[in-house]
Amino acid sequence: MSFIPARHFPGTRMRRMRRDDFSRRMMRESTLTADDLILPVFVQEGENRRDAVPSMPGVERLSLDLLIEQAREAVELGIPALALFPVIDAENKSELAEEAYNAGGLIPRSVRALKTQLPELGLITDVALDPYTSHGQDGILDDNGYVLNDRTVETLIKQALCHAEAGADYIAPSDMMDGRIGSIRDMLEADGLIDTRIMAYSAKYASRYYGPFRDAVGSAAGLGRADKQTYQMDPANSDEALHEAAMDISEGADAVMVKPGMPYLDVLYRVKQELQVPTFVYQVSGEYAMHKAAFANGWLDEQSVVLESLRCFKRAGADGILTYFALDAARALRGRC
Ligand code: PBG
Repeated sequence: MSFIPARHFPGTRMRRMRRDDFSRRMMRESTLTADDLILPVFVQEGENRRDAVPSMPGVERLSLDLLIEQAREAVELGIPALALFPVIDAENKSELAEEAYNAGGLIPRSVRALKTQLPELGLITDVALDPYTSHGQDGILDDNGYVLNDRTVETLIKQALCHAEAGADYIAPSDMMDGRIGSIRDMLEADGLIDTRIMAYSAKYASRYYGPFRDAVGSAAGLGRADKQTYQMDPANSDEALHEAAMDISEGADAVMVKPGMPYLDVLYRVKQELQVPTFVYQVSGEYAMHKAAFANGWLDEQSVVLESLRCFKRAGADGILTYFALDAARALRGRC
C-alpha cells in the first residue's frame, strides 16, 4: 500500500474563523436588530374589529383601537416605525379618489390617534390612490383607462398634505407618477411642513408579488386582470431603477425604496452602492405569503428562515426593511443583535 501525501496544505483555512461562535460573531459583516424593521399595517373602520387576510396568514386588518394595541407592542419590541395602509369602505371609493384627501378620513384619524398615544413611534403613510379608486389603479384615468400623470399628481399633493398636517413623520409616495416627489416637496415647503420626510418608492416594479396586498386593502376586485405596467417598472430593468432613485433624491426625497425585496436584491445593492442615500426595501405581501405557505407545510423552519431573509437585505445594503414579519422577527431578536 503506497502512502500518497497531500501535495500541500490549504494556504488559508477559512474554517478556522467559522469554528467557534465568538469568532463568527467577531467577523460578522452585517447585523440585524429591531431598529431595521418597519411594520406595515392595515387599518379599517369600526371598533374592536379584526379581519384575517386569507392570503396573508397571521396578518389582520384592524380597527383603530386594535391597531393602537398592536402599535404599542411594536414600540415595546423596539420597532421604530409603522407603515399605514387603509382599507377603504366601498361607498367611499370613487373614480377621482376624493376620499384620499379627506382630513377626517381613516388615515389622518389614525395618524392623530397613534401620535397622541405613542408619540415616539414613527409613522409612514402611503401616498397613492389605489385604496380610494373604484377601479383599483393608483391614479385618475382618461376615457381609455390610461392613468393620467399630472392630473393624478394634483390629487397626490392634496393627499400628502393631508397626511403631513395630521402629523405623519414620513410620507411615502408609492404611485410611480413622474414629478410627484418635487411637487409634493414644494407644497410641503410652501406650507411650512419642512420636517416631513419623504420616503420615495423609487424602484417600484410592476410585480405580481403584490397580489395578497391587493386582497388586504380591497383593491383587487376593482382591478380585475388589469396591471400597472404603464407606471410601475419593468422587472427586467435595473439601470432604470438608478435613474428613478437619483431623480427622486434630486426632487427632494430623503430616502428611497426598492420593492419587491428578495427577487430584487441586485437592484437594492446597486441603488445603495451608487447613490449612498438612506435606502429601504419592502419584503412584499407575496414574499410573505410564499414563506408562510412553506412554513405551514413544514417545508421551512419559520424563525430561522425569517431572520435569514431579513439579514440578507442588510447584507445587500438596506438601511431598513418593511416586512410583515417585523413583530415576529423583533420577538426573535430580543436580547441579541
Ligand atoms: C399601493 C401599494 C402597493 C403595495 C404598497 N403600496 C400595491 C400596488 O402597487 O399594487 C404593495 C405592498 C405589498 O405587496 O406588500 N400603491
